[in-house]
Amino acid sequence: MISDQLPPGDHAVADQLGAAAAVAARAPSIHNTQPWRWRIHASTADLYLDASRQLHVTDPDCRLATVSCGAALHHAQVALAAAGSATEVRLLPQPDNPLHLATITAIARARPVPDAQRLRQAIEVRHTDRRPPKQQPIPTDVMPLLQATAATHLSGLQPLDRDKVLELAAAITQAQADETADPATRRELDTWTGTDRHSGAGIPDANILTGPTSTTVPNRDFGHIGTLPVNDQHDDAATYAILYGYADDPRAWLRAGQALSDIWLATTAMNIALLPFSAAVEPPRTRELVNRLLIGIGYAQLAIRLAIPDPTQGDAPRTPRLPTTETIERVQP
Ligand SMILES: Cc1cc2nc3c(=O)[nH]c(=O)nc-3n(C[C@H](O)[C@H](O)[C@H](O)COP(=O)(O)O)c2cc1C
Repeated sequence: MISDQLPPGDHAVADQLGAAAAVAARAPSIHNTQPWRWRIHASTADLYLDASRQLHVTDPDCRLATVSCGAALHHAQVALAAAGSATEVRLLPQPDNPLHLATITAIARARPVPDAQRLRQAIEVRHTDRRPPKQQPIPTDVMPLLQATAATHLSGLQPLDRDKVLELAAAITQAQADETADPATRRELDTWTGTDRHSGAGIPDANILTGPTSTTVPNRDFGHIGTLPVNDQHDDAATYAILYGYADDPRAWLRAGQALSDIWLATTAMNIALLPFSAAVEPPRTRELVNRLLIGIGYAQLAIRLAIPDPTQGDAPRTPRLPTTETIERVQP
């Protein structure tokens, strides 16, 4: 509830926006590229896509970079709502600058939102775990809740039946075979997930499995094995779903990213593990196959696996983040 209009020139507002941008650094991103840059003004925070951290070969249109930035945007919105700041968000505020993805304006002090505080706590523990999950289905009431969450971001979440899971698995296998056979894609994968990673970004070996899984849907092929021990469990009990948009443009990609963050934080709070699968939506040919699974209801942005984590495995290690000096700039008035 809005309780107090902001006095003009209040430095605390810029501090709060800067703090929210720092919290947003914990957001998930494709190969942990963290392709975002924030500019903090007196009462606004501008979010830009940082093309220097785009995957130029794998993601030439910036769709997955934009989904990642949408997740960071939602993380910042959660941090502000939890801290008691009412905000307005404009997507793509400058039509002539496609890199300017969003502007958050702090409009008033408000009571901290309890739901946002719950999600804010989940930001601290959310992470990607690629290990096969426990063979136990998620509760039946979870999917409708997550579909409602996706709808608040003008996106959709379509669960897949067994036949469609097999089609998804085939599309991922095809996409990964094409990608790993392409020297340019392999080089890019090495840059972000191999030994020549930029420190503070990319995926360390500690988060990559020691070998292939026995799951129906294959895990991401990073082109090399890591050090995270793989178990021989199956994914039969897991739920697979497609996160989709009602258009296939940067606005829809941003919204899908906001929905991904909202869904992932909600599932984290419920002790349900979410694993994204983007390989099949990367090459246009397999993206078309995944789109067909939606039978015309929308445009696929990402596949996700929802499952109960295996408590005997312990937590997967956290991935690194860039120093905020590389991603946040405070603009002096
Ligand atoms: C748009 C997007 C696509 C992703 N695709 C995959 C994927 O195909 N396979 C995978 O194992 N992880 C995938 N991830 C997870 C990222 O690798 C992960 O978020 C990143 O390494 C940071 O680690 P964290 O989530 O533990 O903070 C994806 C994440 C995003 C946001």
